[in-house]
Amino acid sequence: MTDKNEIITKFIELYGGDPSDVRVFSSPGRVNLIGEHTDYNGGFVFPAALSQSSTVAVRRNDSGFIRIAATDLPDRVCLDISKLADYKDLKWGNYQAGVAYVMQQSGYLISSCDILYDDTVPFGAGLSSSAAIEVVMALVIAQFSYEQGVTDKPNMIELAKLSQKAENTYCGVNCGIMDQFASAMGRKNHAVFLDCKDLSFKYVPLDLNGYKIVIGNTNKKRSLAESKYNERRAQCEEALSQLKLAYPEAECLRDISAEQFENAKTLVLDDICRMRAEHVIYECDRVLKSVEALNSGDIRSFGNLMTASHISLRDLYEVTGPHLDIMVEESLAIEGCIGSRMTGAGFGGCTVSIVADYAIDEFISEVGKNYESRTGIVPAFYISEAGDGGREIL
Ligand code: GLA
Repeated sequence: MTDKNEIITKFIELYGGDPSDVRVFSSPGRVNLIGEHTDYNGGFVFPAALSQSSTVAVRRNDSGFIRIAATDLPDRVCLDISKLADYKDLKWGNYQAGVAYVMQQSGYLISSCDILYDDTVPFGAGLSSSAAIEVVMALVIAQFSYEQGVTDKPNMIELAKLSQKAENTYCGVNCGIMDQFASAMGRKNHAVFLDCKDLSFKYVPLDLNGYKIVIGNTNKKRSLAESKYNERRAQCEEALSQLKLAYPEAECLRDISAEQFENAKTLVLDDICRMRAEHVIYECDRVLKSVEALNSGDIRSFGNLMTASHISLRDLYEVTGPHLDIMVEESLAIEGCIGSRMTGAGFGGCTVSIVADYAIDEFISEVGKNYESRTGIVPAFYISEAGDGGREIL
């Protein structure tokens, strides 16, 4: 996490004025431990918030504009509060504009302000840098709107939903709720077991006795991720519409059990759509089993479920690609790594592995060396600590 005084100093260098009225808010990225491509099918997910985050220093004013800058980018944007619908084509800043627009439409007061972003979530790595940017923006707006008596105290689940809506309707990515929910609601040292159908959730302590969660960044930027993502969603919808002939009461794929699926899968005419549905339905089961395994301290079973998830994402959902597959293969070749899978949307980005404490140094050096020699790309590794969700840093 960014140091509070450091970001305030940079804010003053950029915008001037007095540090005493600058406030700092932060919202994290996430790593999903298991339950991939299930959220938009009403299924289960199991993410943890990271300590890497999007932190902002911000000060209200009455200019009629939101000015936004970042510590690591040359881009600057200036949003006219009376024209928030107009910024969809921004290369950087459209997530923030989208959140402000959607919140304005929902009755929040949008305050003029200057903002400086400091992002430590690697960009485009499947660790939800965009959700972190959105949720912290939503929190700033909601807090100011509340302080001016226009809306109630910020409700983090509501802010997660508004952030998702901005990404869907303003930025054109048809994502589910997982990333924004994890960023808004994460808790230190815990993962969030979330039912995406009704947003009920439980915090599960990450007591990994002797093991750590290691994130491996393939440094392969996700390509065509958005169009393929939207295509996967459409394939799931097609499978559901055909399975409904047998189970008319099913509202989403998650409502169909593995056994029901096996009995009716021939109703799904297209082979590809059938494979997509099979992944989703069995992945939901794996999440339930993972939570049970972790609750009973059975880390090995959890690791096996993670690896099974990767295989399903590779063979049935087809969202892994060679870089993620190579990294998982090299990870599992290390004695002491008991489970490994891709995390996030796929098509590049990161893996998540469970590695015994004693094997971590070897894991990082060997997987790093072997991955590089097979792909020509130098990867990066982070030992993940589950952090807190969106909040003001006081
Ligand atoms: C992206 C989306 C999420 C989720 C994952 C896949 O991260 O933003 O909503 O669908 O992909 O599990």
